[in-house]
Amino acid sequence: RAEVIINGSSSPLVLERSSESIKHQDGPTPTQWRHNQTLALKIRKHILKFLDAEKDISVLKGTLKPGDIIHYVFDRDSTMNVSQNLYALLPRTSPLKGKHFRTCAIVGNSGILLNSGCGEEIDAHSFVIRCNLAPVQEYSRDVGTKMDLVTMNPSVIQRAFEDLVNDTWREKLLQRLHSLNGSILWIPAFMAKGGKERVEWVNELILKNHINVRTAYPSLRLLHAVRGYWLTNKVYIKRPTTGLLMYTLATRFCNRIYLYGFWPFPRDQDQNPVKYHYYDTLKYGYMSQTSPHTMPLEFKALKALHQQGALKLTVGACD
Ligand code: CDP
Repeated sequence: RAEVIINGSSSPLVLERSSESIKHQDGPTPTQWRHNQTLALKIRKHILKFLDAEKDISVLKGTLKPGDIIHYVFDRDSTMNVSQNLYALLPRTSPLKGKHFRTCAIVGNSGILLNSGCGEEIDAHSFVIRCNLAPVQEYSRDVGTKMDLVTMNPSVIQRAFEDLVNDTWREKLLQRLHSLNGSILWIPAFMAKGGKERVEWVNELILKNHINVRTAYPSLRLLHAVRGYWLTNKVYIKRPTTGLLMYTLATRFCNRIYLYGFWPFPRDQDQNPVKYHYYDTLKYGYMSQTSPHTMPLEFKALKALHQQGALKLTVGACD
């Protein structure tokens, strides 16, 4: 039984309250979801004790200079030098400085989105966060097209763009980057040494091709801080996924948070098969065998927060 303890002490809120279905969009008796503003504000306050999304969303120009040495967060013995290109792309001020949005959508990449018809609903939110350069055009009916912040783990360059082995893949990545069209591109560049070249390739493409994005590179402390917050609340994650990181950051600047595409299970609630990603053929085995993530555990925590009205999780079709 997991608990979320707000303000560290007196008011433990039981996370796992019942096995109540979160099937609120369809089905015979949909659960009535109501936003719990008091709880959302408490969570924001509590998370602020661990991290400040405004600051931790990106390292700023003023704090680094070219040539500085950085130890990777997960590979402490390996280092990187801050390149001229990376330095050029560091923001001067936080891309979230003073930002407040009425509603935010965080779009995970689960195949549960296919045939959801959620595109229009997602696009109606004030701020839309997407993960790992996921394609949208071909899936717009189900996932929408609006994007204000897009994440990019360096491994995506290998997984989705064949490590840019030839011009075709390079062109494909260029097009995807162009399609970001002014949004924030969030690249965890300091996490693992494996991403070194990939981050540099992307930085170079952005600069050479004058791509219209606002780059952001999360702080060195962000991951541990996010993990710390969830561990304190008895959610024993190993390494937070991109989706959970985004939710944790979003609590700072979004009044209401709506999650779509979060479903780390191979079957839906009616036992129909669900693709791991809505857009590729990656398998669930990838997640359980090689990934340090604990997605089902995260999902359980998010579901409990949904049941308490702190966020809204959509795992069915939209109206
Ligand atoms: O960066 P990561 O590999 O964690 O993410 P991804 O596979 O690109 O998907 C983005 C986010 O969607 C994940 O971090 C999860 O939070 C969520 N997701 C999910 O809940 N269920 C899935 N089957 C796939 C992704």
